[in-house]
Amino acid sequence: VTIYLPKDAAALALGADEVAAELTRLARAAGRDLNLVRTGSRGLFWLEPMIEVATPAGRIAYGPVEASDVERLIAAGLFEGGAHPLRLGTAASIPFLARQTRLTFARTGIVDPASVEDYRAHGGWAGLERALELGPEGIVEEVVQSGLRGRGGAGFPTGVKWRTVAAAKAPQKYIVCNADEGDSGTYADRMIMEGDPFVLIEGMVIAGIAVGATRGYVYLRSEYPHAAAAFALALDEARRAGLLGRRIGGSAHDFDIKLRMGAGAYVCGEETALLDSIEGKRGQVRAKPPLPAHQGLFGRPTVINNVISLASVPFILAEGAGAYRDFGMGRSRGTMPIQLAGNVRFGGLYETGFGVTLGELVDEIGGGTASGRPVRAVQVGGPLGAYFPRALFDTPFDYEAFAAAGGLIGHGGVVVFDDTVDLRAQARFAMEFCAIESCGKCTPCRIGSTRGVEVIDRIGAGDPKQITLLRDLCETMKFGSLCALGGFAPYPVLSALDHFPEDFGAGAAGSA
Ligand code: NAI
Ligand code: SF4
Repeated sequence: VTIYLPKDAAALALGADEVAAELTRLARAAGRDLNLVRTGSRGLFWLEPMIEVATPAGRIAYGPVEASDVERLIAAGLFEGGAHPLRLGTAASIPFLARQTRLTFARTGIVDPASVEDYRAHGGWAGLERALELGPEGIVEEVVQSGLRGRGGAGFPTGVKWRTVAAAKAPQKYIVCNADEGDSGTYADRMIMEGDPFVLIEGMVIAGIAVGATRGYVYLRSEYPHAAAAFALALDEARRAGLLGRRIGGSAHDFDIKLRMGAGAYVCGEETALLDSIEGKRGQVRAKPPLPAHQGLFGRPTVINNVISLASVPFILAEGAGAYRDFGMGRSRGTMPIQLAGNVRFGGLYETGFGVTLGELVDEIGGGTASGRPVRAVQVGGPLGAYFPRALFDTPFDYEAFAAAGGLIGHGGVVVFDDTVDLRAQARFAMEFCAIESCGKCTPCRIGSTRGVEVIDRIGAGDPKQITLLRDLCETMKFGSLCALGGFAPYPVLSALDHFPEDFGAGAAGSA
């Protein structure tokens, strides 16, 4: 019997290894030959550890399974997909999954992340094959046409970035993957690297061919040891299969990837600080220009893309730009892996075309709060994203619509809060976070964030006049900071002030 069980960090935290040990022990005792495949997660975290049994009717899912459930599950006919209160039917039919459009995450939770062959059996490497047929210019054109924009948050068109690097003349160019996934409520990069690492490798190889780069780096945050292990193993396997190294897939192109670990600084997710960190320096933000596309890693032209941007490329090449562009709204084309987190009933990864509204995500898909209390606020886009009140729940997930509402979609993290949240405390947290994580290079961020904490404390002590000062400070930080850390810290603060003035005392209402 074949059973699939996630080895994803979230599933491990919920006891997946204990379930694996119990399954192995009891299968042996029952004289059954168990083929236990450790996959990534499907991303339905309230059902983890979720096990899937291969049956003629498809993969039958059970969850959430604890080690103590395994004996009764086997007695109920687990190996044949038998009935049990934890039985969920076929995994693909679970509504949370069935409603999604999984393009980038098509294989996550399904394939064995350590197997090049399993990846191929599920459509992997088809993008690379087509890329080799198209050649560099054709690849760039396909990515431009797909409308793919940077999934790290800024939403810059990926194909245009590649075109800039392709046009640059230099003896060496680089592909750098930003896997320093530091935003609150985000885990999409981690899920790809643990559950489908070859899709990232394939995306980076395609990028290398497109722009004429032979070396790639993945900068991974140190808080992701499981992703590091899964990705390092995948790199070895890809090299063994001739899909990394010299003459990739028998072509004339060379490309190899190194994995670099960060040391826990949020600012190293900013692209130029990340480059400094890879170069062995302290991660500090560089002034732009020059853009990394012109002078990036070791001063050479460099493509820096987020994990999800690169992992979306194999689908685009394999299925064609149109197949990707068909999803979405306005200038936000394709799909976005939205990550539902915080106080939410059904937390998990939800990949869908742009255009779904915040209300649909939180109330319908997420099922409201886990605490059962009313939803009061939702923070989208990480610790420096805006807090949205219910009144803005009709905002569609779209780069432009979120910007118009005073927010950002960032890396797609959605953190839900119930009516016990104190938005003044959250605003203070944003300033404090900025003060702790500031690289110290520019004054508005380095000093402004500390002053911000003090001003918010004075508001809390009952001095409403300080609200004008706080707004002034936010303007200065927004427009005077060198990078998005200082520049975006005002977003949670101002959104809290604008939408939840009652949390700032009597003088706050109407202060805008
Ligand atoms: P950016 O807008 O300066 O650049 C975006 C990307 O496009 C960069 O890779 C840049 O090098 C590239 N680029 C810009 N013009 C180009 C050109 N002409 N040719 C080639 N490449 C070009 O944004 P940045 O500073 O990289 O990131 C800021 C974004 O990061 C914010 O908009 C925000 O959404 C996100 N962010 C989110 C945070 C969060 O807490 N969620 C925190 C910090 C940033
Ligand atoms: Fe550094 Fe903050 Fe200035 Fe960014 S805004 S360069 S993190 S001091």
